Amino acid sequence: MSAQVHKARRHDSALKHVTGQALYIDDMPEPPGTLHGALVLSTIACGKLVKVDIAVASKMPGVVAVLGPTDIPGKNDVAAIGQNEPLFAVDRIEFAGQALAMVVADTLDAARAAVEKVVVEIEAEEPILDIATALERKAYVQAPSTVLRGDPDAALASAPHRLEAEFSVGGQEHFYLEGQIAFALPGEDGDITVQSSTQHPTEVQHICARLLGCDFNRVTAVVRRLGGGFGGKESNASWVAAAAAVAANHTGRPVKLRLPREVDMVATGKRHGFDYRYTVGFDDEGRLRALDAVLAADAGWSLDLTPGVVARALTHTDNAYWIPHFRAVGYACRTNKQSNTAFRGFGGPQGVVIMEDALDRIALHLGRDPVEVRALNFYAEGRDETPYGQKVDENHLARCWAEVKQGGEIERRRAEIDAFNAANPVLKRGLGLFPLKFGISFNLPHMNQAGALVHVYTDGSIRLNHGGTEMGQGLFIKVAQIVAEVFKVDIDRIRPSATSTAEVPNTSPTAASTGTDLNGWAAWEAANTIRQRMVAYAAEHFGVAEADIEFADGTVRIAKPGSNQVLSFGELAKLCWLGRVSLSSTGYYKTPKIHWDPVAMRGRPFFYFSFGAAMAEVAIDTLTGESRVLRADLVQDCGESLNPAIDLGQIEGAFVQGQGWLTCEELWWDARGRLRTAGPSTYKIPGSRDVPPVFNVTLLDNAPSREATIFRSKAVGEPPLMLATAVWTALKDAIGAVGGRNAAVRLDAPATPERVLAAVERARQGREQSVTRNG
Ligand code: MTE
Ligand code: MOS
Repeated sequence: MSAQVHKARRHDSALKHVTGQALYIDDMPEPPGTLHGALVLSTIACGKLVKVDIAVASKMPGVVAVLGPTDIPGKNDVAAIGQNEPLFAVDRIEFAGQALAMVVADTLDAARAAVEKVVVEIEAEEPILDIATALERKAYVQAPSTVLRGDPDAALASAPHRLEAEFSVGGQEHFYLEGQIAFALPGEDGDITVQSSTQHPTEVQHICARLLGCDFNRVTAVVRRLGGGFGGKESNASWVAAAAAVAANHTGRPVKLRLPREVDMVATGKRHGFDYRYTVGFDDEGRLRALDAVLAADAGWSLDLTPGVVARALTHTDNAYWIPHFRAVGYACRTNKQSNTAFRGFGGPQGVVIMEDALDRIALHLGRDPVEVRALNFYAEGRDETPYGQKVDENHLARCWAEVKQGGEIERRRAEIDAFNAANPVLKRGLGLFPLKFGISFNLPHMNQAGALVHVYTDGSIRLNHGGTEMGQGLFIKVAQIVAEVFKVDIDRIRPSATSTAEVPNTSPTAASTGTDLNGWAAWEAANTIRQRMVAYAAEHFGVAEADIEFADGTVRIAKPGSNQVLSFGELAKLCWLGRVSLSSTGYYKTPKIHWDPVAMRGRPFFYFSFGAAMAEVAIDTLTGESRVLRADLVQDCGESLNPAIDLGQIEGAFVQGQGWLTCEELWWDARGRLRTAGPSTYKIPGSRDVPPVFNVTLLDNAPSREATIFRSKAVGEPPLMLATAVWTALKDAIGAVGGRNAAVRLDAPATPERVLAAVERARQGREQSVTRNG
């Protein structure tokens, strides 16, 4: 048996996923007496709550209780990091979709029927529904923050060329296949166990305790798996769980709360949409001199996780490029919409698009090749510090760029595409390239810690528990591989178990792509502690030196002069137990080297960077605005991949999810602030036919992480989502071909057929698209 790590292994639940045998919370057998919850939501976006009349609803058949703010024994606040984010609105209505009350009934149908009978009276006020209005009124959820280096004003003034532009990107619904759900089971003395589809079990525990008004030790949050999270279950799962817990506590019965898709989409936060405005200064070759950028995020009505999202957007505005003088100001605009939250990339995707827009405009302005202008500005030796003060170490940008260009046969295809465009008046093709640098770690240093708990049983089977949650990304199999590697046993001997606040406490969310980096090391520590005990005992027992004991292939070899002895791993485990050796251990890890000053916005927030590059080819129909991705070539740095099969799946999935964000997924609110794209019929996520028909994904080979990451691997969960930026660039390239590339293209995302068509129209007329030239 060879090594367990750096090896393609299928997801531990792959067969269960595809045969329907994997248990999600809604599949678990319900104990007798289980009640079902349904939420009463506001249909008004802003106003004063006058009355919630539950008289009729309470008397509906099957209804056990209708709960509102006064039924919460503790604090009516589900804020993750801020405050005053009530579970049930008290007097202010902040968005259409805000929870006002919850019905609990014997059946789901009874609960939903009663929701219709709750009478709500709201004095409506004028809502703020867009970023521009919020900026104008200085309506923010937090003070603006700035990353600054050098003197951008002076550098812009003296730059040989200067361009200004603005554009915007939309938000994105997570569209996890399993909607938000929690099941709360009351125990004795007020104890409560909550099964939650959450990325953050510890926050579920804390927020349930806050609302119940009890100690943390009364609440146990358990998560076997999520049917997708994508950031949408980092903070939002907590209030869903808290609502179930409050109802279970109130009724003394088990309560399940599952949000139907429409309620889920209307009530929970999404990716932040952003408006941008920037001025960029550069020289005759296209070398960047300075950037002055404003990034305005639509935070929605409350803080939620917006500070982290804005900070990550600001620390990724530079993307792959050295910009000597730099200012990026981030506004967190308060609007009367869902409170926007984490979404794969966490502000990174919204940060990296700015320079991609700028460099295309620069290349056009100078009549240069945008691919070359990009490479000219890459971070490099001697110009390798980010505007927030972190060195860009082990820079793989040039390598990724060269490999993607070679793999994608850029010269041949550029010529083919140009020939195609010259010959075709209706269909136009475009090519786009994108380089990526993405920082790995939570921006807040204290969040970068993890714990694990490993038991070895006397038959040699191993139970593995850690603080990370499995949402389909393959965390459990990767950490199991690590433990198997420590003990040199087959992966089948490892049993990963449900994440639980009772087993590993005080955990961070599984987010920021750090799941394996953090929990993998913690599990390694736990396993290694046990292994060392086993070695020490075996040395004593067999009278040999520790160096004479070797774990390999599920066995333990004791090298004795003349006679080698071989035990199975299980036999040694049993021997250790007889010798009264503990075969259970916790493990703990904290990421070294990181620090961050959130006020100055300086430090080393990231343990390392992950790199990548993408090349995408698209076709547009200039009569309808429809578009297709014809081919994508991706190179992604995963360090020395722990599991190339899992990583490949993550890269493909992330890319297509990014493609959805930038092309077809459009959130649309009506003039009264009601989200009208609240289901798959109106909100279009990419389908199987949107996957590029030619899709070449390569893991950057021979690139072990220089930092001491677990087995020299790198995180993969979020970075490849940004590779889809190449699709957006390619679309602009195709649109530019319409007007003979005589004007810059503004293409707001998502690049829906309407937007593409409008941009084609402007290109046809050779109209400047929101650019002022100067110099
Ligand atoms: N992959 C699947 N299948 N489902 C998910 O919900 N979430 C993504 C990514 N990949 C997600 C996924 C997000 S937002 C993050 S931060 C990482 O997985 C989290 O897991 P990791 O840290 O273990 O990579
Ligand atoms: Mo991922 S957005 O960090 O949950």
